[in-house]
Amino acid sequence: MCDKSGYDDFMLKEIHEQPQTVIDTLKGRVLPDTGKLYISELTPLESSVSDIERILVLACGTSWHSGLLGKIFIEKYAQIPVEVQIASEYPNSDLTLNKDVLCMCVSQSGETTDTKNAMQTAKKLGGKIVAVCNVIGSSMAREADYAIYTYAGPEISIASTKAFMSQAVTFLLFALWLGEKRKTIDNNTVSAMLNELLNLPEKIRRVLKTEKTVKETADFYKNTGHFIYLGRHYNCPIAFEGALKLKETTYIHSEAYPSGELKHGPVAILDENFPVMIFVPAGKANDKIFSNLQEARARGSKVIAVMSEISRNDRPESDHQLYIPDCNEEVSPFLTVVVAQLFAYFTAKGLGKDVDKPRNLVKSVLAE
Ligand code: G6P
Repeated sequence: MCDKSGYDDFMLKEIHEQPQTVIDTLKGRVLPDTGKLYISELTPLESSVSDIERILVLACGTSWHSGLLGKIFIEKYAQIPVEVQIASEYPNSDLTLNKDVLCMCVSQSGETTDTKNAMQTAKKLGGKIVAVCNVIGSSMAREADYAIYTYAGPEISIASTKAFMSQAVTFLLFALWLGEKRKTIDNNTVSAMLNELLNLPEKIRRVLKTEKTVKETADFYKNTGHFIYLGRHYNCPIAFEGALKLKETTYIHSEAYPSGELKHGPVAILDENFPVMIFVPAGKANDKIFSNLQEARARGSKVIAVMSEISRNDRPESDHQLYIPDCNEEVSPFLTVVVAQLFAYFTAKGLGKDVDKPRNLVKSVLAE
């Protein structure tokens, strides 16, 4: 039986559950004695990993965003090209597959009709199907050739939060597993990344402790009619997810772009009435994103920068700063997403919205 455990809403409760979500997704997969990676569901796939030519990810909504992040991890660690498609568009594809194309169908519920249809199309076209689901025994998990569970536990709030976290962690584990089996990464890289994941719950707790500042920032911006979210590389999918969270819970018009795309059109709509949330954690893409930030400010936009604590003193250009703990850039999206979730939640609360049940939305869409 699920209750709010003293929280005002399921969404806030589920945001706060994320340190435990990471622990649950990792449980039994990072072996405590050896620190080694083991994904039992994938053992039957092991003998054919070297044959995988490409990976196709099919999903909707928040699950699609986790797929975008998954693509970055898989291409980096396993050196396999990944295409991420919106599930409802996939049945229009004319491209034949073969058994060396691994189709990862991602769905929290495992019941979304668009993703189920896409999965059935991919199966008919000859692909090998892996379902990545949260709900144990869901129909997609049953129909797929292989199922990987994400172990987020029941998610009640319509706006998905901890399910995204569990999918993103699963994708990183999967990418490391694949890289290890295909010998595209060495043991030290696997151990270093597993360590980053083991330290993640504590870092998420530190982000949750910044809740008051996120709420104050949300209160400052809550009456805006628009928002643009920008991110690069690991944090581009977080820009998409942040904008989705904001529009789902507050009904504020919000759009997201890879930050480099700003100059190719979206910059035209920026002015003092169009604020920007930009994800600028420390890392390779950092300098380029800071120049995007300055570009937005030069157009009069107010800017919220979600940045690393290490940059606290040397990057004062934004109007508001929200911080994540210093971390390896690969895991920064697991932390910036929590800031984006809290920001959407507190903006919605400030506007008096029913955050758990936004208008026009349902948890699992069974219509096409
Ligand atoms: C609905 C929900 C979204 C969710 C999407 C995909 O639109 O409102 O929050 O991301 O379905 O759901 P799934 O269960 O397939 O991940």
